Amino acid sequence: EQINKGHYEHYMQKEIHEQPESLTTTMRGRLIRGDSCKAKSVLLGGLKDHLKTIRRSRRLVFIGCGTSYNAALAARPILEELSGVPVTMEIASDLLDRQGPIYREDTAVFVSQSGETADTLNALEYALENGALCVGITNTVGSAISRNTHCGVHINAGCEIGVASTKAYTSQIVVMAMVALVIGDDTISSKGRRESIIDGLFDLPNKVREVLKLDQEMKDLAKLLVSEQSLLVFGRGYNYATALEGALKVKEVSLMHSEGILAGEMKHGPLALVDENLPIVVIATRDACFTKQQSVIQQLHARKGRLIVMCSKGDGSLVCPGESCRVIEVPQTEDCLQPVINVVPLQLLAYHLTVLRGYNVDQPRNLAKSVTTQ
Ligand code: G6P
Repeated sequence: EQINKGHYEHYMQKEIHEQPESLTTTMRGRLIRGDSCKAKSVLLGGLKDHLKTIRRSRRLVFIGCGTSYNAALAARPILEELSGVPVTMEIASDLLDRQGPIYREDTAVFVSQSGETADTLNALEYALENGALCVGITNTVGSAISRNTHCGVHINAGCEIGVASTKAYTSQIVVMAMVALVIGDDTISSKGRRESIIDGLFDLPNKVREVLKLDQEMKDLAKLLVSEQSLLVFGRGYNYATALEGALKVKEVSLMHSEGILAGEMKHGPLALVDENLPIVVIATRDACFTKQQSVIQQLHARKGRLIVMCSKGDGSLVCPGESCRVIEVPQTEDCLQPVINVVPLQLLAYHLTVLRGYNVDQPRNLAKSVTTQ
């Protein structure tokens, strides 16, 4: 029953809306609630025999393409925080172009929805040749990446048909957050932090259900933006990846130019683009970067930027500098899980823009679900 649209008009729409369920399936059997005998913890059977090696690695190198790369980028801060191991990111084709260093002491993690992307597979072959421990994170049991890695975790998001990845993205982030929790499981000082994240994971499907209620609001926003040439998305910290992924969704399906921008780089170029016409989404939900994002909003406003601010519920009037600013208020969760919530309105915006602009939602021109050639 997964491979029909049900009452939805497009697969992408269905896949966006089924995220509370896909996330539940991703976490099923893997979260331990904890009681007087058992600690609150995460269980990933596919990694358990390799955890010692992973913890002793010189680096954790995450490798992927497109949305899968963005998912790894979203999980990077929590992986760095909890694992105690340096974490680096590689776009598969770029790693191969550079013949970048991969060592025997590295753990190389391959993130791929399909498990069949040629660039990622070639990077896997390269990492195997260099003797790294290779871990797969895929949505496809029996795929080339799950067969050829030493161990791994399936994201269990269910079949994804729309070429633009949506539910696989949020499930990948959740799996990588769980990987961070498992690797850090032997560190007593972060026990409290890990328990809060696990509580956040239990509650995440409900929060996603809540944020999906913004559907009509995002449709209204899409109507406002339908004829624009371009849309910028500013994010930083946990939500730099959200900015990249939101912009990727908008450009790949609605065929509107869109760019995700690291807000910390604003002054080094992007500020020159700001005027009263170009719409800019600024992600400013509550986390350690909130104050810095508030200052970014002020600076964009001072240059008459046309702002759409995504903020935590209740923060609308606090973050908006003027009446011309539009607000998207989203439910708040643990900082490292917030990217799962924040990407949803942007997925909805991309979807509605595409429908309004009359383009093919599930099969964007020139793109394929799985790129199996180089
Ligand atoms: C293609 C798809 C993207 C996807 C990327 C990586 O470009 O259109 O949606 O993110 O490949 O695919 P993978 O299956 O490796 O995650």
